[in-house]
Amino acid sequence: MGISKGKTVLVLGGSRGIGAAIVRRFAAQGAQVIFTYFGSQEAAEALAAETGSTAVKTDSADRDAVIARVRESGPLDILIVNSGFAIFGDALEQDPDEIDRLFRVNVHAPYHASVEAARNMPDGGRIIVIGSVNGDRMPLPGMASYALSKSALQGMARGLSRDFGPRGITINVVQPGPIDTDANPADGPMKDLMHSFMALKRHGRPEEVASMVSWLAGPEAGFVTGSMHTIDGAFGA
Ligand SMILES: NC(=O)c1ccc[n+]([C@@H]2O[C@H](COP(=O)([O-])OP(=O)(O)OC[C@H]3O[C@@H](n4cnc5c(N)ncnc54)[C@H](OP(=O)(O)O)[C@@H]3O)[C@@H](O)[C@H]2O)c1
Repeated sequence: MGISKGKTVLVLGGSRGIGAAIVRRFAAQGAQVIFTYFGSQEAAEALAAETGSTAVKTDSADRDAVIARVRESGPLDILIVNSGFAIFGDALEQDPDEIDRLFRVNVHAPYHASVEAARNMPDGGRIIVIGSVNGDRMPLPGMASYALSKSALQGMARGLSRDFGPRGITINVVQPGPIDTDANPADGPMKDLMHSFMALKRHGRPEEVASMVSWLAGPEAGFVTGSMHTIDGAFGA
């Protein structure tokens, strides 16, 4: 309990993985947490019951639905944009509609949600977007759309930090390396290759990412904005 008591927090994409760890962290700190899900209704309802938070279905690929969700959930003290996914495979073979959906979820939603949240956010509010170390380093073929989407968040945070800075609102990107979730299991077929790029030869835990997010959202990080915070076991070093 403590640093987030009384704060209103919206987590876009909170039903599983890193997002669920973030929901648990803020709920444990006494915040009023609202989180979105899309495909995982059962997991979302279980997490809401476990944490006392509120789960709402919103597709992050739907710009207008995202904007409406942010508006209806506000005014927000803290916005976390976590929803995101990767598409693997030969760029020449990929379905352009699927690629555009990735850009809507991974890039458009973070931008529109951040702008909408800032409209009614009190001075000193916090916006944190989950990027990826792949925004800095993409050592494998077949993931250019994902890398592009995570690099785009860097420009967004740099730019919006200037827009929102006069009100003391900060915006930062957390860039995980391999983290043990459904999207990237620690015992998956790519683990040895991924660990070969790293100084710490293991996947990170969602809770370790939630710790960094919690610090960025807290009172000790008031001078931190427009920057990228990598948590990757030196994947990108
Ligand atoms: N795991 C890693 O190694 C890693 C590394 C770097 C960055 N990241 C980033 O961290 C974030 C979370 O990844 P994760 O590993 O925790 O993934 P995950 O286990 O697949 O969970 C993804 C979460 O995002 C939600 N989501 C996905 N598409 C959505 C949509 N259209 N609308 C609403 N919610 C949606 C999912 O909700 P539903 O299931 O309810 O649809 C789920 O709660 C992503 O942005 C990812 O790019 C992950």
